[in-house]
Formats: sequence, structure tokens, C-alpha cells
Amino acid sequence: MSRRPLMFGTNWKMHKTAAEASHYAVTLRDLLGGIEDIESVQVFVLPSYTAIAAVKESSGGKFLVGAQNMHSKQSGPYTGEISAPMLTELGIDIVQLGHAERREMYNESDAAINEKVHAALLAGFRPLICIGESRADREFSVERDACAYQLRIALKDVMRDAIHRTIIGYEPAWAIGENGTIADAQYVHMMKDHFRAVLGDMFGSDSAERVPILYGGSVSEDGAARMLIESDVDGLFVGRAALDPTAFASLIAKCLLEYKARSRPLLIT
Ligand code: PGA
Repeated sequence: MSRRPLMFGTNWKMHKTAAEASHYAVTLRDLLGGIEDIESVQVFVLPSYTAIAAVKESSGGKFLVGAQNMHSKQSGPYTGEISAPMLTELGIDIVQLGHAERREMYNESDAAINEKVHAALLAGFRPLICIGESRADREFSVERDACAYQLRIALKDVMRDAIHRTIIGYEPAWAIGENGTIADAQYVHMMKDHFRAVLGDMFGSDSAERVPILYGGSVSEDGAARMLIESDVDGLFVGRAALDPTAFASLIAKCLLEYKARSRPLLIT
């Protein structure tokens, strides 16, 4: 039976030193401890590489810890890169791959992301694969094709029995960051259904049902619950609005309260 717990994650990008991260982790851990039903959801934090150990140590097992990227090779002449074995030593659970900023600023290709997905699965991590159309894709009405293209390449040759370990982060490039605006929830709903259909086509509908699909891009405390409920995604992936642990915990608490108020089950079984 498929189970998709709600997920709330944050990618810190290039923010926070290890000392700042440690303080954040302790605060978040304590605040999460006070949220009703928190055990039914999965919370994760993706710090910079240099802060992963500190965050992991202070997490108290209240949230998962991951990396924002990794290289597909185990070792070698790749100056400045980090490999799966290095991350294994830090005990990470999740690795984000193909974030829009990496695709755009560091020319990460879909094929490279596919290699990383395989390396992450092999290492026992859950790859959080970010996909999303550009502003131009949307203007030319090819957003569905653009995302399906990214998804099909990222997941090429992934085994059917491994697909449930992946997480899809839908983040339209035009929705992310200071210049972004949150997508319309109905639009995200439509895109999410499309991704599930693509996954079904690739892996069969039973396997596709087990993959969590999260939304990210200018999620704020105010709009989070509405997005979660109206788009029917499995969780939210938050940048700026989660840089403060109190704000992140409060966003999660509000979403759970709203879920309950609408008698929505916290686990889809
Ligand atoms: P944002 O970032 O919430 O600050 O828009 C989202 C992301 O890039 O994951």
C-alpha cells in the first residue's frame, strides 16, 4: 500500500555558517517537538555542506538532513565537488538534485542530473529531483512538455522498485526567489497531475502513486496552507520563508491545523 506522508523541506542555499546552523537546528527541533501531529509528517533541512554535520548533530532526530547537491562520481579530479561517500559519512537522508539555480547558473544538464540520481540511489539517499519550467517555457505554453522532458531524463533507467525513494520538487523557475511569485494553486494541481501521469507512464501507476510531489517557489507562511490544500501536492519546499526556524515551524503548524480543520488525512494510504 502506498503511503505518502506530508513533507515540509527547506533548502538554505548559500546561507548560514555551521555555528548559525547549529542554533537554527536546536530551535527548530524544540519548536517541532511542540507541534501536534508532527510525527505524521516529514520535515527536512538542506544546509550547506559545511553545516550538515552540525545540523545533523542538533536535529535530535526531529527532522531529516540532506545536501543541496552532489557529484555523480565516487571520487576523482573534480575540484570543489562533493561525492556520495563523503555525504554518507555525514549520515544524510536526502540529496537535492537539479535545483533551478544549479541548472541556470552552473549549466547542469538533464543528463548530468540523471547520473546523479543513479549515484544517489546507489548510496541509499532519497534524491529530491527538482524540475520546473522557465518563464519562456510558460510564455510559449510548453510548461508541461518542458517538465515532462526533465522528468523523463532525470529518471531514465531508474528501476521500478526504486522509484518510491525519489521525491519530485516542482519549482517553476519563475516562481523562485526575490523576483519570483508563488504559482497559482490550481495551476500547480494541474502540473502535479501531469507529472503523476508521466510517472505512471514510465513506472506504472502503482509505483507512480508512491512518489511524493512537492511544490516550491515563493512559499510563505501566509500562502502555504492554501497552496498545500488547493494544489493537493504532498508537501512544500521552502526557501526564504524558512530561513528563520520560528517562521518555518509556524508555517508547518499552520498547515497541519488547516489540514485538520478540513478533516484531511495526514497520510494518504
Ligand atoms: P524561495 O526558494 O522559497 O525563496 O522562492 C525556493 C527554492 O528555490 O527552493
